[in-house]
Amino acid sequence: MTTSIQTVAVIGTGVIGSSWTALFLSRGLHVIVSDPVPDAKSKLAAYLQKEMPTLEKMGLADGASISNYKFVENIDEHLPHVDIVQENAPEKLEFKRKLIAKLDARTREDVIIASSSSSIPSSQFISDCQRNPNRVLIGHPFNPPHLIPLVEVVPHPQTDEKYSQQAMEFYHTTVAAGLGLRWALTGPFMTNILGGGGGKTSFKKLLEHLAPAAQGWTKDMNEHSFDYSEESLA
Ligand SMILES: NC(=O)c1ccc[n+]([C@@H]2O[C@H](COP(=O)([O-])OP(=O)(O)OC[C@H]3O[C@@H](n4cnc5c(N)ncnc54)[C@H](O)[C@@H]3O)[C@@H](O)[C@H]2O)c1
Repeated sequence: MTTSIQTVAVIGTGVIGSSWTALFLSRGLHVIVSDPVPDAKSKLAAYLQKEMPTLEKMGLADGASISNYKFVENIDEHLPHVDIVQENAPEKLEFKRKLIAKLDARTREDVIIASSSSSIPSSQFISDCQRNPNRVLIGHPFNPPHLIPLVEVVPHPQTDEKYSQQAMEFYHTTVAAGLGLRWALTGPFMTNILGGGGGKTSFKKLLEHLAPAAQGWTKDMNEHSFDYSEESLA
């Protein structure tokens, strides 16, 4: 990873944010992380304890330690000190728009703001950014990012090329292969269940979370379009 990046802000510790945290720690980075859900701090600690042995087997970078993260109630005061942001908050356009504007306002002007968004182009959530929307891009992982070595870097039309290049360089130790091995092992149903966080209700959770966006994607496919409405699925 780029040597100038030492501290990552991870916004949100749900399915994806907690896995990013594990990955960044395993690569020897320091992480400042935040999530407003009351039990998020203890859940993240338990998750990291559970996943670190796997990452140790895969090989840790020099200086990597599970203790190199700080869970904070309010990340605002830490934002001026981070070297990159990985945003993993809920997949809601207005929510992300406000959040990305705040991140733009509080981070140093040349710090990459990468969103994990699966379905919202970053061009749609930069409109309230006042400082430097040209450093905003999508850094889309495949679940779980600490085990699947693939990240899609997707700039919006005004993203400065230098930030796309820096993001590619940053993710380079993670970007090594495609999805084939994982999909061969888990198959499409388990992949979607894991995407909803695992557990009995998680396929429903994934649909609630991503179906509105997926409906939009399939509109692009014209006659192949699929109707995800409750009436159609009943
Ligand atoms: N689940 C997947 O398979 C998957 C895969 C790739 C990318 N993504 C993308 O990752 C992002 C997160 O998805 P997820 O599946 O982890 O969702 P999730 O619902 O599991 O996690 C979202 C987290 O954000 C937290 N949050 C809410 N408001 C916040 C705030 N103001 N600041 C910080 N955290 C806040 C929530 O408490 C929750 O823990 C989405 O943009 C999604 O499109 C998801």
